[in-house]
Amino acid sequence: MILVTGATGHIGRAVVRRLVSLGHDVAAMVRDVEAARLRLPSGIVMRMADYDDVAALGNAFAGIDGLVLISSDGEATTVLRHHTNAIEAAVAANIRHITFTSIIDIDEGSPFYFAPVYRDAETRLALSGVPSTVLRCGLYCDFILEYWLDPCRTSGELALPVGGGRVAPISRDDVAAAVAAVAARPEKSHATYTITGDQALDFGKIAAAYGQAMGRQLRHRACAKNEYLTSASARLDEPWSHAFATLCASIAEDRYSHVSKDFTDITCQAPESFRDFLLRATSSSPAQI
Ligand SMILES: NC(=O)c1ccc[n+]([C@@H]2O[C@H](COP(=O)([O-])OP(=O)(O)OC[C@H]3O[C@@H](n4cnc5c(N)ncnc54)[C@H](OP(=O)(O)O)[C@@H]3O)[C@@H](O)[C@H]2O)c1
Repeated sequence: MILVTGATGHIGRAVVRRLVSLGHDVAAMVRDVEAARLRLPSGIVMRMADYDDVAALGNAFAGIDGLVLISSDGEATTVLRHHTNAIEAAVAANIRHITFTSIIDIDEGSPFYFAPVYRDAETRLALSGVPSTVLRCGLYCDFILEYWLDPCRTSGELALPVGGGRVAPISRDDVAAAVAAVAARPEKSHATYTITGDQALDFGKIAAAYGQAMGRQLRHRACAKNEYLTSASARLDEPWSHAFATLCASIAEDRYSHVSKDFTDITCQAPESFRDFLLRATSSSPAQI
């Protein structure tokens, strides 16, 4: 049986659906069973646990063969603790394989707020003795749309401190496809893949693609970090304005521009282009136009 954490979230839900449709026995780890019933396929096995509850994690992982650990989110020390608890509980439960969603830039020299958190989780996995597959995922198309593009649709200007840095965005649906494919065919040792879109785009191109999809102009302007922090902190709680500003710094250092073929090798399909993602996302939510 494969257990999926974050099973009520965007990626977890899609992974659960894909694994069920492939015929696997799937358990969903959830915090609120009643709320989860509304979001997950009927009849799915549910195990209740919070990443902060070590005993509940142990119970949830009992009898599980494969763990899909969808990364947690929030303040860095909290996320680090969540990943640590989940990996330690998986080792104690003799889980045979772990699939983990990591990030592209875990480098020691990275300015990104979350780089040390994911470096820690990857190190723990590598040392755990449990066979594991790490998927280092690029920026989600959905993230770029929700947090950077949509908020600018009225002003017509996307001001980010990314310099001329490029990213190769991948949709959450495609991340879920890669996660499900890996979890369905677990490797016997430790493997790391990089999951990106098939094209590295600068933010001028990203803004232009959004403008085309929405039928209105959006222009990118590379701004200073402080200007971004001022505008972002008016909209976002901490740690997000700081986290996003440091993500931009990582992009400006060209740490997110790598294009990998791993997605196609794993899923035998091409990733959705950013343009096709935008057309799909904007046509399925007309209220955003
Ligand atoms: N690469 C990128 O661009 C990018 C962007 C954003 C996020 N991410 C990462 O990708 C992950 C998955 O994205 P997503 O869109 O699927 O996230 P999401 O929709 O926000 O889902 C988060 C899931 O985590 C669960 N969760 C939160 N706190 C928990 C806790 N303390 N214990 C157990 N479960 C908990 C939530 O459960 P409830 O339903 O109970 O809240 C939910 O199922 C994120 O968590 C983040 O680490 C990556």
